[in-house]
Amino acid sequence: MSLVNTLSAELREMSVAGTLKRELLLKGPQGAVVEVEGRGEVVMLTSNNYLGLANHPAIVEAAEKAERDFGYGLASVRFICGTQTIHQELERRIAKFFNTEDTILYGSCWNANEGLFQTVTTEADAIVSDELNHASIIDGVRLAKAKKERFKNRDLGDLRRALEATRENRNRLIMTDGVFSMEGSLAPLPEMVEIAREFSAFLVVDDSHGTGVLGRTGRGTAEELGVFGKIDAYTSTLGKALGGSHGGFTTGPKTLVDYLRQKSRPYLFSNTLPPAVVMGSIAAIDLVERDPSFVTRLRENTTYFRKQLTAKGVKVREGIHPIVPVIIGDTAKAISMSAELLDRGIYVSGFGFPVVPQGQARLRCQISAAHTREHLDRAITAITDVAGKFGVLAA
Ligand SMILES: Cc1ncc(COP(=O)(O)O)c(C=O)c1O
Repeated sequence: MSLVNTLSAELREMSVAGTLKRELLLKGPQGAVVEVEGRGEVVMLTSNNYLGLANHPAIVEAAEKAERDFGYGLASVRFICGTQTIHQELERRIAKFFNTEDTILYGSCWNANEGLFQTVTTEADAIVSDELNHASIIDGVRLAKAKKERFKNRDLGDLRRALEATRENRNRLIMTDGVFSMEGSLAPLPEMVEIAREFSAFLVVDDSHGTGVLGRTGRGTAEELGVFGKIDAYTSTLGKALGGSHGGFTTGPKTLVDYLRQKSRPYLFSNTLPPAVVMGSIAAIDLVERDPSFVTRLRENTTYFRKQLTAKGVKVREGIHPIVPVIIGDTAKAISMSAELLDRGIYVSGFGFPVVPQGQARLRCQISAAHTREHLDRAITAITDVAGKFGVLAA
């Protein structure tokens, strides 16, 4: 059988099983509402545009100015001829935002994770990683030669076990998501900081869903949980709350960043972030630092949405994060509900096994500061109606 025939057979199987992912076409920018080809305007309830900055005029303007002043691209990697003043400026701004010593930019947070573990560890070391960490962490850890220990999701006892099991290793790196994106749950960072100290381990948090989202000033999960300034290093993205375009980074001790600049393969061998993204990201950080109302509005919208749905008998995973999973149970039901909601003008994704555990299929709603009460009410009414129709409302 040729390769193409093998792939084609597998695609057919996925199609029959109903697990093929399909992409809807947006005819305009990302926002609280979007124009979907063939459907018209729908409320967007499934993007990471948490602060509503993905089409903010100040960011679009900054990106346009960057192209006029700095061009479209650098046609190179950073250390050859691809570093502009604005790249350094963005790195400094991110370090200031996180209260860290220095920052290194990557093409994405995927690249930041991919470029971390293999670079800073050897066979002598160990990486201790939460089992529900993002795919980019899982793949990044795979590339490292260090000993690997997984611990059960947010389970401090199991984290201790994993650290005990790596006592003989030279350096130990603990890796966790700040926010687990299928659950909207937070890593127990205060306890993890203590445990990392006790075991002399280096704690890294991927705060892709916390950056710009959590904490009074949007500094992330550590700020939310009262341990801002106590995390050894972070990886995070510019592709969600902070403008929603592209780019990622690692931020932490200067020595770590200096070392990554010398040796991290996705940094050394992949192109520089384009000027428009760099200036757009600086503008996004400006907005978040100057105007606390983005973060406040996001929190108010999230609280309202969670409370209203719960009051109407919709089973929502408890929490404070704008990722609001509505637990349905059966995968086929969750997928059908998502399709019916789209028919009613609400764009929300359904996730089933194997993305989430068997029997815990869900609609994953994501709230934005850009949603108005009217958008949220439309979504709440539609979700309640559809949940009633599919028999998943609490009695
Ligand atoms: C926890 C986490 N880490 C990393 C990433 C990858 O981010 P990027 O899109 O910048 O590669 C994501 C994106 O979904 C994420 O949720």
